[in-house]
Amino acid sequence: MARIADEKVLVLDFGSQYAQLIARRVRQQQVYCEIVRHDLAAERIRALAPLGIILSGGPASVYERGAPKCDPAIFRLGLPVLGICYGMQLACEVLGGRVQSAPAREYGRAHCRIIEANELLAGIPAETEVWMSHGDQVSEVSEDFLPLAATDTCPVAAVKHRQLPVYGLQFHPEVTHTPQGSQILANFLTDVCRCAGTWKLGDFARETVEDIRCRVGERRVICGLSGGVDSSVTAALLAEAIGTQLSCILVDNGLLRKGEAESVIQEFTDHFHTDLHVVRAEDKFLSALTGVIDPQEKRRRIGHAFIECFSAEAAGIKGARFLAQGTLYPDVIESGGARDGPAATIKLHHNVGGLPEDLAFELIEPLRDLFKDEVRTLGLRLGLPEDIVWRHPFPGPGLAVRCVGEVTRERLDILREADAIVVAEVKRAGLYRQTSQVFAVLLPVQSVGVMGDARTYADVVAVRSIDSEDFMTADWSHLPYDVLARISTRIINEVKGVNRVVYDISSKPPATIEWE
Ligand code: XMP
Repeated sequence: MARIADEKVLVLDFGSQYAQLIARRVRQQQVYCEIVRHDLAAERIRALAPLGIILSGGPASVYERGAPKCDPAIFRLGLPVLGICYGMQLACEVLGGRVQSAPAREYGRAHCRIIEANELLAGIPAETEVWMSHGDQVSEVSEDFLPLAATDTCPVAAVKHRQLPVYGLQFHPEVTHTPQGSQILANFLTDVCRCAGTWKLGDFARETVEDIRCRVGERRVICGLSGGVDSSVTAALLAEAIGTQLSCILVDNGLLRKGEAESVIQEFTDHFHTDLHVVRAEDKFLSALTGVIDPQEKRRRIGHAFIECFSAEAAGIKGARFLAQGTLYPDVIESGGARDGPAATIKLHHNVGGLPEDLAFELIEPLRDLFKDEVRTLGLRLGLPEDIVWRHPFPGPGLAVRCVGEVTRERLDILREADAIVVAEVKRAGLYRQTSQVFAVLLPVQSVGVMGDARTYADVVAVRSIDSEDFMTADWSHLPYDVLARISTRIINEVKGVNRVVYDISSKPPATIEWE
């Protein structure tokens, strides 16, 4: 039987911030898509047998020394190629066009006129908005190319080679600011690459379940649950595959959000009936944190305590041979862990909450081909509740890095209550899914207030809400004033020990999302 991922498209990554977005957009058209190194040899690409190739954008100029190039033989494989931005400039340069620095760097919305509505631009209105982000553009194309579209400042905004199935777009079809972008990608996939659209998450889940059963046989798998989406979906998938051969471990470190441990415990006992081991370790973590205010030291100690708790519990589970982890495709790509994938990107690594590599288990990573949105959809299909599936990310060291200053039980309780109010009010306003991460931070600051007739001197809570695509950059959310007002009133009225609430209006960079 053919595997679903047999019908696939490759994205050659030239360092674009949008490479993963392109791959996600392709998968949204039910075509499996992988990101590979920009210089993957044509022979290797032929062996991978994609139905088409997309060349991503990238920050370099094609005429610069050392600019990333693809193997020019890829244009002669007979495969459809779509170059986007830098990818188009590269394709045109290799095949006889001329690329120049644009008179003005073009960034943002542009008005695009279709000159030639061929298969790539079929069904697109004659005039449409597109999103540009480039400093160079193709200034001239040889006779071999047919210009398909133009903007006021960009004479070749879309192009097609007359003999080869090679296409280019100067603008970005993958971003939502190009409203017709998905139609253009769909045209490329369906009418140019002849993809039938066989990539379905349901099939993926079935195949993965089969693979896990084959690999595991009669043996036992351990899965750490953190309360987050990725580990929950991993565990749910394993529960489906191997049922009672799965043992889950939840380390309750006393640093989780309000109700988080309980909801995970309920889900994985009542619903999935897994062999769930809850390690109650609040005291251990709190004593490890006594007197510590340095954020790195907090992370280090929490990391150690976690490994100790997890390993001790795992050692007591007889016959366990495998360890399941919720690694996702972006982690695999960014860590340089994919076979033909790009080199590791330099990224600040948060290695708290992870396990050392030398644990004596074989790893099972059933989500390593999936993006976050696919993981969420899969979670819902597997029967996980929306509350878990849509939960915002939460750092491994938990509330400890949101309790600025010393971490004590009392301060954690204050923070947990304030945080629950922030989340509840954002949910009540219907904004939880529009925001990427919303939470409270307890500051090591007391301020003067007045309650009734009495002067108070109490804690300050900061509210943080951010919008982000990938958590590498983020904007603070422009939450409506009335939502902020309700959050503030409720925290000050309901959380004893807090008399002031402030809103964090810092973007990342230069601020990080977490305060510590
Ligand atoms: P920063 O604060 O670096 O956070 O802007 C980026 C994203 O990473 C999360 N984060 C962590 N995740 N272990 C994790 O698993 C950690 O130690 C950790 N620290 C930060 C943070 O919540 C945000 O989503």
